[in-house]
Amino acid sequence: MVIFHTIQELRAYLTERKHLKRGLVPTMGNLHAGHLALIKQAKANSDLVIATIFVNRLQFLPHEDFDSYPRTWDDDVQALSDAGCDILFAPNEAELYPEPQTYKVHPTPALADKLEGEFRPGFFTGVCTVVMKLFQIVQPDVAVFGKKDYQQLAVIRGMVRQFALPMQILAGETLRADDGLALSSRNRYLSVDERQAATSLSKTLRAMADAAQAPNADIQKIETHALQAMRDKGWQPDYLTIRTQHGLEAIDPARREPWVVLGAARLGKTRLIDNLEF
Ligand code: PAF
Repeated sequence: MVIFHTIQELRAYLTERKHLKRGLVPTMGNLHAGHLALIKQAKANSDLVIATIFVNRLQFLPHEDFDSYPRTWDDDVQALSDAGCDILFAPNEAELYPEPQTYKVHPTPALADKLEGEFRPGFFTGVCTVVMKLFQIVQPDVAVFGKKDYQQLAVIRGMVRQFALPMQILAGETLRADDGLALSSRNRYLSVDERQAATSLSKTLRAMADAAQAPNADIQKIETHALQAMRDKGWQPDYLTIRTQHGLEAIDPARREPWVVLGAARLGKTRLIDNLEF
């Protein structure tokens, strides 16, 4: 695996390999098996896999964990190399944002201002801006994003569609620990006790999905009950909600289209998100 820290060096290398189909996996590092599965998926769908590691300040609110976000460079390089990644692009902030990034991509509020966007205002503008910039630098044929960040995937798909970017977006399935906890870089913030308790999130989403499939299910009641149940267990949920997979709209129970249950909740200082399609 070759490693580049500058746009110029990366572009020069890619220009010499113009004929190869490029697969991009953008990350913020602290890689786990979920990321490596995305690398594998990129490998199966391209000739040249490019991973990026960049902790993007633009997508963090001032009180969030930008400074403490786990940075595990040596382990990440080893894991990517073992997974067969061809190129790692890891710019520093001065390289990617040499001047204040005042040109930004603002995704449609209808999709980006709810759920994550309601509780993390500006988050998807930060994500879209850096992802658009990485797309311009790498010019991938295929880019892979995990379904764990379900709304992010939907927002990026919308951006690619509306800007007619010549690439395909692939969705990677969420990887889970044996007890159901979705793999996430933020799991490492959990204490031993919190790690045990953390399974409640995926269990609650499962129970909500099961309840929603019962005849005459009252979706609002299911959501209210789930929020209270999580609070009773000591969590601070931001949202636990059942939406249409397409557009993440409130559902009309009379119309059975594909649904997804999404949740975000804080356990101690750690904010976890998860979702389940059904
Ligand atoms: O999902 C992530 O890790 C980040 O939001 C991404 C897509 C790498 C953009 O910084």
